[in-house]
Amino acid sequence: MHSVDSNLTEPFLSIRRRSLQLCESLEYDDFLVQSADFVSPPKWHLGHTTWFFENFVLTPQDPAYRVLDPTFGFLFNSYYKTVGEHVLKVNRGVLSRPTLERVFEYRQYVDEHLRRLLDKGVEPALRATTVLGMQHEQQHQELMCMDIKHILYQNPHRPAGPFPATAQLLTGSAAFIEMHGGLVSIGHAGDGFCFDNELPRHTVFLQPYQLCNRPVTNGEYLQFIDDGGYRNPALWLSDGWDTACAQNWQAPLYWERDSDGWKHYTPNGMMPLVLDAPVQHTSGYEADAFARWTGARLPTEAEWEWAMETQGSGFEWGQVWEWTRSAYAAYPGYRVPAGSIGEYNSKFMSNQWVLRGGSVATPPGHTRLTYRNFYPPQMRWQFGGIRLAKDIG
Ligand SMILES: [Fe+2]
Repeated sequence: MHSVDSNLTEPFLSIRRRSLQLCESLEYDDFLVQSADFVSPPKWHLGHTTWFFENFVLTPQDPAYRVLDPTFGFLFNSYYKTVGEHVLKVNRGVLSRPTLERVFEYRQYVDEHLRRLLDKGVEPALRATTVLGMQHEQQHQELMCMDIKHILYQNPHRPAGPFPATAQLLTGSAAFIEMHGGLVSIGHAGDGFCFDNELPRHTVFLQPYQLCNRPVTNGEYLQFIDDGGYRNPALWLSDGWDTACAQNWQAPLYWERDSDGWKHYTPNGMMPLVLDAPVQHTSGYEADAFARWTGARLPTEAEWEWAMETQGSGFEWGQVWEWTRSAYAAYPGYRVPAGSIGEYNSKFMSNQWVLRGGSVATPPGHTRLTYRNFYPPQMRWQFGGIRLAKDIG
């Protein structure tokens, strides 16, 4: 027990360090900006991920533990209604106090207490919550990349920034791989970590289908734009068309056209579009319209998982989250975890679509074939791309 717990100390500290490393090249002022209601300032991410450990591990573990500042519970609770009141998400950008310096102190304070606790040995339930906190912090690391990109892009000079870019795909031509379908199993199995929403493993029936070996590229998406894809309502879901019109979508987020052609926002500022890289920053609606334009469709999450699990080596994935046509809902037999942690995933199971895979912004080791990411289909600031599927027959 003690040796197992000791092994958690270094992974914990390493994940905590990585959050700070992601921000290393930011200027002070970048930490404070909230560029949209769905974006959080980097300073808030750093405080919130710390609060998670304080609130869900340190306080329950030891009644004598003294929180660094009793106001942080209100400021850095994200959405846990059973824990208490919290600042509205849209107001995270007006929190000039605590200062960034104070948030760094908060991180050190909590890290030191957690390190001591993990070195000493922690009972299994709190150990599991610590692991969840580490996974949670990794999710926020990807969110920080998304938010930093959105924040810096608001600057007219489109400055360079610490968020990753996609690279050219290794596989040249797109090829569809045939899958027999039938009764198959999906969902997490085994002793490794998974989120509650990946459980339980269960049986689903799949009709025979085909899944493309690689995601859609920028060059392929450009053909959809050039063919009037954004002006043809027949290609779009009703909600998608209304959103595209209302927001005047002409291309994926972060694309711009000037006299030299299309450019997109990269870690080095605006650069010519890389045609052979996977398209990213598409909404679910754009992904769906693009698929319809090609005569294909988006895969279901079960089709995606089964193909990757059984034919994995034939597929290229991991640079962009891939939209599926599956609504984010509970698997058959799903149990909401007890206590406030039950709010982590279950209450978001409405009006969102599932994305599978993982992106260049996903921390190393944080991806799984059973991983269920989810966003509302109109959102584009996440690193979301497209993979095509087809029916057979
Ligand atoms: Fe969170």
